[in-house]
Amino acid sequence: MNNIRDIQDEILRIKKERNVCILAHSYVAKEIIEIADYTGDSFMLSKAAADTECDTVIMCGVRFMAETVKILSPQKKVYLANPDAGCSMADQMDKELISQLKERYPDHTVVAYINTTADLKTICDVCVTSSSAVKICSQIKNKNILFIPDCNLGDYVAKQLPDKNIRLVKGGCPIHARVEKREAEAAKKAHPDALLLVHPECLPEVASLADYVGSTTGIMNFAKSSESREFIIGTENNIAELLQYECPDKRFYCLSKDMICSNMKMITLPDLYSCIKGNGGEEILLESQTISDAKKCIDKMIELGG
Ligand code: 13P
Ligand code: SF4
Repeated sequence: MNNIRDIQDEILRIKKERNVCILAHSYVAKEIIEIADYTGDSFMLSKAAADTECDTVIMCGVRFMAETVKILSPQKKVYLANPDAGCSMADQMDKELISQLKERYPDHTVVAYINTTADLKTICDVCVTSSSAVKICSQIKNKNILFIPDCNLGDYVAKQLPDKNIRLVKGGCPIHARVEKREAEAAKKAHPDALLLVHPECLPEVASLADYVGSTTGIMNFAKSSESREFIIGTENNIAELLQYECPDKRFYCLSKDMICSNMKMITLPDLYSCIKGNGGEEILLESQTISDAKKCIDKMIELGG
């Protein structure tokens, strides 16, 4: 096999023969996205996995995403295409730290961004995604919320919901938080007709300059349906590239050349090939108690409209 197309064809052949569903997060390489059954944000992928009739699912994304798929589809075999692909944000907080905070703030509802480990989700009250965080938090009856692990997303939610008392913990995505205000100002100056669209994982002072703040899917939908012709994209640079393919008549600029998630870039077409052949990847195995406890916090999100 000597070119990308040959490997893709072989993966598609095995996929059909073994009835495998391939999920690709929108931050992974284009040659994987081209042959995936579903591409999208982390929560959309988990829902797609739960709905598919395939009994084997391969996640081309990071570990917490594969774990979320397993929690929602425990009867399926779920594989992470590259076992080393973790999420720097999800790995920042563990059960021990959050248990201590729960003891210190017993009257707070613990809201966990979906970018958390399955283990940590077992002691949280409700999950949110970047697209549903404001809506879910607004529906929580308790005024006091402990928001983990992303203090930038938490700050964004707090600004939309001034009546809530949202306590933040210092954590977040090093890729999104890397971009400083002066870079956003410079990008706006360089492209005065472009709208600035950013992910809420960015710093508050960057988000405050944006014309739109939303999830990866939210940013893509906004750009596709907007009347505007030019956009500065403030999230992983894959999104600007995907948008440019999908909307050739519009112009997309990356907010920063450094917005590259090295975790997502670890996942290669050969990783997917090895995984689907049965000699690579890692099967996600979670204790049944972990699955049922972590599922409560995801079910609560669905109940509140996430
Ligand atoms: P989404 O939930 O929008 O897929 O975002 C996940 C992520 O890791 C963003 O950095
Ligand atoms: Fe995690 Fe940040 Fe990469 Fe998203 S971009 S997967 S939050 S490290």
